[in-house]
Amino acid sequence: MGPPRVAVTTTTFGPPETVAHRRLLDAGLDVVVNPFGRKPTEGETIQLLDEAVGVMAGTGALTERVFEAAPSLRVVSRVGVGIDSIDVAAAEARGISIYTTPEALTDSVAELTLGLMLAALRRITEADRVLRGHEWRPLMGTLLKSKRVGVIGLGRIGRRVAALVTTFGADVVACDPFVDASDWQLVDLDELVATSDIVTLHVPLSSETQGLLSARRLASMRRGGVVINAARGGLIDEEALYRALHDGALAAAGLDCYAEEPYDGPLTNAPNVVLTPHMGSYAAEAREQMELDAVEHLLDGLRRARVLT
Ligand code: GLV
Repeated sequence: MGPPRVAVTTTTFGPPETVAHRRLLDAGLDVVVNPFGRKPTEGETIQLLDEAVGVMAGTGALTERVFEAAPSLRVVSRVGVGIDSIDVAAAEARGISIYTTPEALTDSVAELTLGLMLAALRRITEADRVLRGHEWRPLMGTLLKSKRVGVIGLGRIGRRVAALVTTFGADVVACDPFVDASDWQLVDLDELVATSDIVTLHVPLSSETQGLLSARRLASMRRGGVVINAARGGLIDEEALYRALHDGALAAAGLDCYAEEPYDGPLTNAPNVVLTPHMGSYAAEAREQMELDAVEHLLDGLRRARVLT
């Protein structure tokens, strides 16, 4: 029997010279790294997890089939925060523990959210495309100052976004079913959506939040409203959003997440949408800390499972 094996399925993970990777090797683990440069398929994940006791996971799906095919698996350590792609019940039933890195990516996601918001309001990426088309044509946008920003979800990221937009002179309203007192003005979800100029999503994806920004809620938004989503694509009715942007009911959107990823759908043809490829945590400082935190969680989990001493 060789050393215990750990699979790294997340797309982005530092090479063996980095401190986090080195920690795994120094702990005597055999480290198998995702060679695909993208999310592995279910079949590829099963192969990567062959004989693995632990996995450093990205947002790729960890299904019941995957767990079934990995009887040695004891720990899932997400390099990230969302667990919507993990069959948590199937993991729990097998005594597999799950860890996440909720602290390390807060600033990174919040700052990208602000970037999407400002880019959408000032049409920055649209203007960039015009200029690259060899046309000099300044585009008129609107201010963030004095706008009403509706923050859906007051976890770490939502609170950070609320604080950041406040420094721009925006007014914040927020809603979160798990928060009943806050520094921010709390309103119910329907009121938030119907009265905000900008709606920004910061909740996990679950059966309760799937399609939360539904066609009905999108239709209730103020004319000229803006939608920002750096959380999960499944939170929004994407088709209804596309129609609202196309018809001019909404002025713009800034999206980092899509119902299906990689995304290559009709929103790529909408000039008034700023699109990024799910890179909320992709600030070097954040990734480095996430990797360090995730490695510590993994080693801790393996010690608790008595795989490591
Ligand atoms: C990224 O989307 C994450 O859940 O960490």
